[in-house]
Amino acid sequence: MNTLNWLCFLLLLALPLRFACKQYSEGFDDGAFEVQETDEDDSEGRKKAISNVDAFGAEGDGVSDDTKAFVNAWKKACSKRGSSIFLVPKGKRYLVNATKFKGPCVGKLTIQIEGTIIAPDDIETWDPGYPRMWLGYYNLSNVSFEGKGAIDGSGSKWWAASCKRNKSNPCKGAPTALTIDSSSSVNVKDLTIRNGQQMHFIIGRSDSVRVSGVTVSAPGDSPNTDGIHVTGSTNVVLEDCKIGTGDDCISIVSQSSNIKMKNIHCGPGHGISIGSLGENNSTGMVEKVVLDNAFIRDTTNGLRIKTWQGGSGYVRAVRYQNVRMENVSNPIIIDQFYCDSPSKCEDQASAVEVSEIFYKNITGTSATRVTMKFACSDAFPCSNIVLSNINLQSEDDDEETYCSNASSFICGRVHPSADCLPSSALREREGVVEESVSQHIIHTEL
Ligand SMILES: *[C@@H]1O[C@H](CO)[C@@H](O)[C@H](O)[C@H]1NC(C)=O
Ligand SMILES: *[C@@H]1O[C@H](CO)[C@@H](O)[C@H](O)[C@H]1NC(C)=O
Ligand SMILES: *[C@@H]1O[C@H](CO)[C@@H](O)[C@H](O)[C@H]1NC(C)=O
Ligand SMILES: *[C@@H]1O[C@H](CO)[C@@H](O)[C@H](O)[C@H]1NC(C)=O
Ligand SMILES: *[C@@H]1O[C@H](CO)[C@@H](O)[C@H](O)[C@H]1NC(C)=O
Ligand SMILES: *[C@@H]1O[C@H](CO)[C@@H](O)[C@H](O)[C@H]1NC(C)=O
Ligand SMILES: *[C@@H]1O[C@H](CO)[C@@H](O)[C@H](O)[C@H]1NC(C)=O
Ligand SMILES: *[C@@H]1O[C@H](CO)[C@@H](O)[C@H](O)[C@H]1NC(C)=O
Ligand SMILES: *[C@@H]1O[C@H](CO)[C@@H](O)[C@H](O)[C@H]1NC(C)=O
Repeated sequence: MNTLNWLCFLLLLALPLRFACKQYSEGFDDGAFEVQETDEDDSEGRKKAISNVDAFGAEGDGVSDDTKAFVNAWKKACSKRGSSIFLVPKGKRYLVNATKFKGPCVGKLTIQIEGTIIAPDDIETWDPGYPRMWLGYYNLSNVSFEGKGAIDGSGSKWWAASCKRNKSNPCKGAPTALTIDSSSSVNVKDLTIRNGQQMHFIIGRSDSVRVSGVTVSAPGDSPNTDGIHVTGSTNVVLEDCKIGTGDDCISIVSQSSNIKMKNIHCGPGHGISIGSLGENNSTGMVEKVVLDNAFIRDTTNGLRIKTWQGGSGYVRAVRYQNVRMENVSNPIIIDQFYCDSPSKCEDQASAVEVSEIFYKNITGTSATRVTMKFACSDAFPCSNIVLSNINLQSEDDDEETYCSNASSFICGRVHPSADCLPSSALREREGVVEESVSQHIIHTEL
């Protein structure tokens, strides 16, 4: 190895050290917060208590109001000792109003959704007590959501009423289809969440949440319909999820850390985002995020970090690897000048700091010429960006990288070239460097 390669090797070794630290991998261990599989019998050999919403008077005809039956079934299931199941049976459609399902529950609860839960679609008569929530689960621990059923927000009238659709509409928020808040040790498996009024699924203020095999879908032009939104949460795993919506497939905000995403299919939508952070001079902190193995298609962004001017806090220790894109605008983008506001955002010096962002094996096609964009602030430049084995092509073969106030390490083949990043001296003899990078990745695998 020549001197340059050694330097690159050492930098790479030093940089992701925090990726490797024990704390980082805790919680990602498969068994760490597994909610036990459903058995027919509990430990004392008794049958699990099943609270079937039908037994509480639900009609499941898609027209009758089944809210009361759901609330009563919940009371029963949640107060039951031992294992119990809140069951929404297969083959029927249950119309349910905005409802808070509160814990803590006494025993170990499984919410098994095999049928479809639908929201009333009339905006005028929506419960004014719950302007931002439809199905909300609070203060739960050791619960499991599962089943092949669906949660359907019936969102089309909400979309039409959005100011994003029609500027003469007032800008106000709409309900989130599914919210899990202030909870811990939660599994969510196999469900479909679709046509959310606004966001589909929020994981808020929670710890140890595993979401697997979940499908989220809404039309590509439905406004602000984020797929899975993680806020103020720790130790979250999202795996084997297929998400296509009109906004971010996944967005991670506020004080969130140890977020792992694996085998994610995203599109249409706005891509996989960290942020936005720092709106209205707020503080945002997101760290220790991994995305491994994703396919992103027909989206307006790929891997995006977005922060507003005037904010504070940080985004750091993020690793994106093994991502393939197809027809993606802005495949790789860090934007410290994000402004999703009807009025122009003022220039401000302060910013959410962005550092230690690692991109490896990112390939595919871009719908725009600028395939990599690092738009960073003067006062808080983006630092320790690592690019390794990137190949992003635009249709007209005129792809390029935009950078402002960002510094990076480049190892392996990076196309388009990132000459604008001040570290080009380190780009040399990819073979050797690549080898050390791969070894390093193996050692830090979660
Ligand atoms: C559901 O909402 C509708 C419209 O606000 C209301 O008329 C109805 O009483 C609600 N149902 C229950 C069980 O609260
Ligand atoms: C959840 O628990 C906290 C603490 O016990 C309590 O303050 C809060 O009101 C509960 N939330 C709900 C929705 O019940
Ligand atoms: C959750 O389940 C685990 C194992 O079954 C148990 O040790 C723990 O006390 C439970 N936590 C709560 C808050 O119920
Ligand atoms: C936007 O909303 C206004 C007022 O509600 C309505 O008159 C107009 O037709 C709408 N425009 C579109 C394109 O839907
Ligand atoms: C920021 O402030 C604007 C204007 O006051 C408000 O509409 C918006 O909801 C605020 N955003 C947040 C995230 O607090
Ligand atoms: C953010 O801080 C700047 C500078 O102190 C101030 O000019 C601006 O009004 C603040 N913005 C908000 C939304 O509070
Ligand atoms: C590319 O993606 C955009 C959405 O960003 C979509 O409108 C367009 O149809 C896609 N093009 C092709 C060729 O699939
Ligand atoms: C690169 O990522 C793709 C998935 O996008 C994967 O199929 C391929 O095996 C990865 N290559 C290496 C060398 O890890
Ligand atoms: C940040 O970028 C701007 C525009 O590219 C440039 O004028 C300025 O000198 C840069 N600042 C630093 C600290 O590199």
